[in-house]
Parts: sequence; structure tokens; C-alpha cells
Amino acid sequence: MSERYGQPGRRVAVIAGVRTPFVRSGTAFKGLSAIELGTLAVDGLVARSGVDPAAVDALVFGTVVPDILAPNIAREVALHPRFPRSLDAHSVSRACASANQAITAAADQLVLGHARIAIAGGAESLSNVPILHSRGFSDALVAASRAKSVPQKLRTLAQIRPRDLVPVTPAIAEPSTGETMGQSADTMAKLNGIAREDQDHFALRSHRLAAAGWKDGRLAAEVTPVYVGPRYEVAVTQDNGIREDSTYEQLAALRPVFDRGYGTVTAGNASPLTDGAAAVLLMREDVARALGYAPIAFIRAYAYAALDPAEQLLQAPALAAPVAMRRAGLALADLDLVEMHEAFAAQVLSNLQGLASPVWARRAGMEPLGDVDRARLNVMGGSLAIGHPFGATGARILTTLCRELERRDGQFGLMTVCAAGGLGHAMVVERA
Ligand SMILES: CC(C)(COP(=O)(O)OP(=O)(O)OC[C@H]1O[C@@H](n2cnc3c(N)ncnc32)[C@H](O)[C@@H]1OP(=O)(O)O)[C@@H](O)C(=O)NCCC(=O)NCCS
Repeated sequence: MSERYGQPGRRVAVIAGVRTPFVRSGTAFKGLSAIELGTLAVDGLVARSGVDPAAVDALVFGTVVPDILAPNIAREVALHPRFPRSLDAHSVSRACASANQAITAAADQLVLGHARIAIAGGAESLSNVPILHSRGFSDALVAASRAKSVPQKLRTLAQIRPRDLVPVTPAIAEPSTGETMGQSADTMAKLNGIAREDQDHFALRSHRLAAAGWKDGRLAAEVTPVYVGPRYEVAVTQDNGIREDSTYEQLAALRPVFDRGYGTVTAGNASPLTDGAAAVLLMREDVARALGYAPIAFIRAYAYAALDPAEQLLQAPALAAPVAMRRAGLALADLDLVEMHEAFAAQVLSNLQGLASPVWARRAGMEPLGDVDRARLNVMGGSLAIGHPFGATGARILTTLCRELERRDGQFGLMTVCAAGGLGHAMVVERA
């Protein structure tokens, strides 16, 4: 039985992709919520693609840190005045692969014939994470709200101790192990023998290639400007984390952040905390052709995988990619481009090692894919330089992969994304 995704003539076409600039959290977008960022990306996508908003059947969006007052970000984005109120919308969560989950959820609807046109993507505002009350404070507030008299209410509130007032801030840590992402990346570097020098060189490469992508307009073409300030007088048009002038010596001089004694992961070879949003427009192939849209690429196959978070938290792309490639019926040599999410340089280098390793291949039930040609890898840099708004990254990567494949007149591309919980995603796209 064919493992191909979508019937001939009814494949899932990627029509367009747009993102906001990705900016370091606490900077230009600190006043914008994930919902606002998502709305701006989708607005830009609709404007650029010219799609009739009334023809969109579904909007699927991902985010990692949801707004507890508006948890269905997709529906809030769909309530943009451009769209009719009847636009169905749901939100998904798959940690840093949330936009990928949104894309495959929307694509599945197209393949099933339940939708003809869909928008998928994600957004994250790490400037606006919810700060929670401690358990003691919450318990006292709930008890006070149930009190039957004012004295009873005051007695309940009087039980609050100073330590109860310390707010609880979310950590980028695994609930199951307590280990932060950075600690996990350090563990992976140690287990896989990834040298600090290699991590820093990879980070430098990411910044250089991303800077080149902005300079020659390839990255600029994917970005819609965002206007901020009291009178919207400031136009944010560029990513602000790319360090064009960064040097290897500067990177090598940075102190490890997560394992200060023996670690190799630094602020320079880790992706920065970032705000931003990205979205893609998907159509069933026959619908696109009937409406006169020229697809950039088609989804040929995808896969998800998972492993024990206590093992190598960000290594699941090494399990997902071989499966996606088998489903696509392709070998590494067939690929014109490979786009890997760069959470940490240590993670990308571990994932690359995993793709060539018989041990990891056996776990995926496959032969090793082999060594990825670095000249085809993340050719416009990646999350280390561009930034990583968790819920949005997958849509950025898919857009970059499809656009660059088109520019190079290539045929096949692979993308991978690692995610918290020991999750991994891989997708293969094809042109024509
Ligand atoms: C690593 C991390 C803690 C660093 O945060 P930070 O300390 O605010 O980072 P900064 O940008 O201030 O960088 C720290 C220093 O490194 C320097 N630096 C960072 N990147 C650099 C580069 N590419 N070249 C040269 N110097 C660099 C900065 O200039 C700064 O130096 P300074 O202190 O002299 O100003 C934060 O980015 C983080 O938590 N990242 C991981 C996010 C994560 O876990 N994501 C999940 C992935 S799935």
C-alpha cells in the first residue's frame, strides 16, 4: 500500500507563508500578546496571498504558553474582522512543534475532504507569560470567595503568609523530570560527544547565513512588518536577534549558562527567548488549480515520534525523520534541502549524528539515513540566529523550506523539529 499523503491531484499544496519579524522577548513586541501577533501574521498572509477570507474553511493555530483568559488562540485570531464569524478554528499544543501540529491537523482536514482551504500556524509571546499565584495564596483567595461574611473572609485572608505572595513563574523545564531544555541540551552534548567548538561554529554559521538571507531579501520576503508604539509609529521590519558581526572568539568566550561547571551550552549557542508568529496558507491541489493559485510545494509525507524525556530530550527528530522519509519513498540523496529547527547547536548536531547512526536508525526500525550535506542544511540560518517563538517556528521553517526549494528549482525538502516531552516531527515536501 502506498504511504503517500493525499491522492494524486488532491495533495496538500502550500500556497503562501508569512511571519512577523521574530524579536527577542522583552523588546519590540513586549506590548503585544500571542493572539495579537498571530492575528498580524494571518492578516499579512491573507493580504499577501489574496485569498478570499470567506473561502477559508479552517484555521488551526498552535501556541505553547496559552493565554489563560483566551486559551483557544485560533478562534481569537479567526475573529479578525477580515473573516466571517463562521470560520471554524481550533488550537493545538505540541510544545515547540505546535505550528507543525497545526499544519498537519489542517492538512489532514484537506486530505479527508473536510476542508478545501485552511490557514495554519502559531504564535508565542514569551514577553507575556502568565505569572501565577502560589498554592497557598490561591487556596486563601478561593476560600475567601466562598466565605459567608466579611469577618470570615478577613480571617481567611489573614492566613496568607509572606512566602505565599512569591509569584510562580513558568520555567522552560520538563514537568516529568524537572530538567530545563538547556540542561537537556548539555546532557545531549555530553552523551553524543558534541564539542563546544562545534556548537559555537554552528551558531556562528546560523548568524552568518541568516544575515545573508536578510541582506539579499530572501528572508525579508517572508516577513510582514508590524507597527508598534502608541500611534503605531514604529515599524518593526526585521528580526532583531541576528548578530551579523558575531565572531567565533566572542562565542568561545561565553560562559556556560545551564551547567556552569561542566556544560558547553551558552547564550551564544542556544536559541534566544523570542516573540513572533507565523502562518501558512494550505489548499487542496485541485482547489488551488481551479482558483488559479500556483502552489509553492506539496506535503509529501510527515511523521511524529517520541522518546523518554529523561533520555535525550531533543533527539526525537532522529526517530521521526527516517519514518517521514520512508513514507515519502525517498533517500537522503534525493533531498535538495534540509531544514532543522535549531533549539540548541548541541541538539542540531546530535540530531544530525542520530540520522547517520545505525543505533538510532534501528530504534526507528530503519536503515540510517546518512550524513546530511551541510551545504543543503539550514541555508538561511535557523532558530539560533532568527529566534524561536515556540508555537510559531514550525510555520517559519515550512515557509523557508518551500520558498528556497522554489528559488533553487529543487524537487524535495525535509524539515525536522524537536520539542519538549521528547517529541519530534519531520515533514517531506515536494515541488510539482
Ligand atoms: C540561554 C539564555 C538563558 C540566554 O539568555 P540571556 O542571558 O538573556 O542572553 P543574552 O542575549 O543577554 O546573552 C548573554 C550574553 O551573551 C552574549 N551573546 C549571546 N549571543 C552571542 C553571539 N551570537 N555572539 C556574541 N555574543 C553573544 C550577549 O552579548 C550577552 O553578553 P553581555 O552579557 O556581555 O551583554 C536564553 O536565551 C535561553 O533561555 N535560551 C534557551 C531557550 C530555550 O530553552 N528554548 C527552548 C528550545 S526548544
